[in-house]
Amino acid sequence: MVCLGNICRSPMAEGILRFHIEKSGKKIIVDSAGTADFHTGNSPDQRAVITLKSRGIDISGLEARPFREDDFDKFDLIYAMDTSNLNHIKSLARNESDLKKVTLIMDSIYPGKNKSVPDPYYGDVSDFEKVYDLLNQASEEIIRKL
Ligand code: 4NP
Repeated sequence: MVCLGNICRSPMAEGILRFHIEKSGKKIIVDSAGTADFHTGNSPDQRAVITLKSRGIDISGLEARPFREDDFDKFDLIYAMDTSNLNHIKSLARNESDLKKVTLIMDSIYPGKNKSVPDPYYGDVSDFEKVYDLLNQASEEIIRKL
């Protein structure tokens, strides 16, 4: 799960997807990262933590880190939150196999529509609620397909 800062959308996506994986009984490793490194080591944004806490999901212990080239080796699927993140990750791909792993997360439910999860950082709590709704729908579909 990849966004820009790895403190709002992608840690939420990591927590939500992990929640659905645990419910499904499947064994899947999930992680998240940012295309920028300016929040490295930081906890998720408090608004993200609070939004998920009320749904029984605890992401308070996560720490931001930048996306690395070896993430292409460690992960089979790489989900970008928006088209800027998508283009950034694609620019780091070393070959066709890396490129094929990268998609927009919202393509899971709206294939080919180029739909992004809007950046809530400069918004308010209601923007985090919208992010939750989008990511929850997408995660359910991802788990159903895997
Ligand atoms: P995220 O949100 O990419 O969903 O983690 C952002 C977090 C921080 C900043 C921008 C977006 N920032 O400019 O610091």
